[in-house]
Amino acid sequence: MRLLWPVLLLQILAVATAQHSGASVDIISGAPSTGLSNVQLTSGTSGLDAPKVLPINGSSFDWWYFDVVSADLDYSLVLVFFAATANGLWDGIPDIGTAVYASVGITLPDGSSLNSEAAGSSLVVTTLGNGSNGTLNETGWSWVGSPDLSSYRVVIDSPETGVQGTVTFESTSPAHFPCAPATASAGQPLVLGTAPFGWANALPDANASVDIVINGTQVNFTGVGYHDQNWGPSTVDTVVKSWYWGHARLGPLAVVWFYVVSPDGSEHVSSYISRNGEVLTASCSGMAVSMTGTDNNFPPAQPAGFHISARVEGEGQLEVDVMHKTVLTADPDVATYRWIGSVSGGFVNGTTWSGPALYEAFAF
Ligand SMILES: *[C@@H]1O[C@H](CO)[C@@H](O)[C@H](O)[C@H]1NC(C)=O
Ligand SMILES: *[C@@H]1O[C@H](CO)[C@@H](O)[C@H](O)[C@H]1NC(C)=O
Ligand SMILES: *[C@@H]1O[C@H](CO)[C@@H](O)[C@H](O)[C@H]1NC(C)=O
Ligand SMILES: *[C@@H]1O[C@H](CO)[C@@H](O)[C@H](O)[C@H]1NC(C)=O
Ligand SMILES: *[C@@H]1O[C@H](CO)[C@@H](O)[C@H](O)[C@H]1NC(C)=O
Ligand SMILES: *[C@@H]1O[C@H](CO)[C@@H](O)[C@H](O)[C@H]1NC(C)=O
Ligand SMILES: *[C@@H]1O[C@H](CO)[C@@H](O)[C@H](O)[C@H]1NC(C)=O
Ligand SMILES: *[C@@H]1O[C@H](CO)[C@@H](O)[C@H](O)[C@H]1NC(C)=O
Repeated sequence: MRLLWPVLLLQILAVATAQHSGASVDIISGAPSTGLSNVQLTSGTSGLDAPKVLPINGSSFDWWYFDVVSADLDYSLVLVFFAATANGLWDGIPDIGTAVYASVGITLPDGSSLNSEAAGSSLVVTTLGNGSNGTLNETGWSWVGSPDLSSYRVVIDSPETGVQGTVTFESTSPAHFPCAPATASAGQPLVLGTAPFGWANALPDANASVDIVINGTQVNFTGVGYHDQNWGPSTVDTVVKSWYWGHARLGPLAVVWFYVVSPDGSEHVSSYISRNGEVLTASCSGMAVSMTGTDNNFPPAQPAGFHISARVEGEGQLEVDVMHKTVLTADPDVATYRWIGSVSGGFVNGTTWSGPALYEAFAF
């Protein structure tokens, strides 16, 4: 009880300060609404990383995803703030009695992993400019974004569950929507495919630093970071059938691929490539993503990796191979796979580079 009043006062102060500065505050309740969700499907002039689904109901979802992979592939971290009921996501998600929660998974050099979760009563999200700040009430988990998306920080202060630390992100590459850079005029589609599967990529590539104590283990590493947001009005498998997604850094290039099969069977791709922080392409065409080492059937048997081939106006053809190092998630029941691995490649007849990647194959 002694701590409650200062905490409440700080929250009131934060909300008052945010309102004074022109920020907007959304409180996403852990108790899902029984009504309809309002879902944002086209871009405005601000709020790239703002909540897109208000309120969350029994089938809608909105999540803020962060990851880091070290250059030597020894370490990775995947951290997600969810606003969704178990019904809003996919099979195998336990119903924990709240629609707002977060989870972190860290892999260590020996391939083992450390995991932790937090369930909140509400997720308070403040939006200013294009950035957002989020606080999972009563858990000590939060993220802090700058209004211009140049930096982010995730803070976990939960001594009761044995997790304390910080993950920082310094953006190296401008944000983008599925089919356009974030600098494009308002009204850009925020959906990937023919169904309302929303995506906004605030940090396509970042210099990241992890400093966390989890379950008695001190984890310190630096690497390539990434942050995005996905959302939709109804259960994930009703807005997307499957995806291959990933991001990589090789030499001066940052690459993000998102290949999606919509529920009607149509195929879509989002291609993002930057060089030294300048966007070379941010579009919905000109990229092909395929599995290597299998017959390319889905769900995958045991793919050896991926191949990404992208046409870049005025630059040529980018060809990149992705090879697994460590499996982060493998659930054959719902076909959700996540890996870290190495990429190698470059523009045809040009310099080739290699580097780290973190990527997924999901099929519902
Ligand atoms: C949630 O809201 C969306 C509208 O955005 C609607 O399509 C969906 O059916 C609603 N879900 C429930 C469980 O009411
Ligand atoms: C935490 O560490 C203990 C003892 O080493 C282990 O039994 C437990 O599984 C760990 N928990 C997590 C979530 O990693
Ligand atoms: C956060 O938790 C406190 C303590 O339970 C509660 O009084 C407060 O209303 C909560 N705030 C929000 C925004 O849900
Ligand atoms: C997040 O909070 C920090 C202060 O803790 C503030 O500097 C920043 O502008 C806030 N960002 C947003 C997007 O509200
Ligand atoms: C990211 O790190 C690279 C090298 O480690 C450095 O050259 C670059 O300036 C850094 N960028 C930012 C935005 O911190
Ligand atoms: C959001 O980002 C875009 C692209 O950088 C920019 O044009 C727009 O002015 C930003 N909006 C705000 C409110 O900062
Ligand atoms: C971890 O890194 C932070 C800086 O990011 C540093 O302050 C801290 O001392 C480091 N801890 C260890 C155990 O190396
Ligand atoms: C690469 O070089 C070969 C041999 O010089 C040439 O035939 C080919 O057209 C070049 N390809 C591209 C995409 O420039």
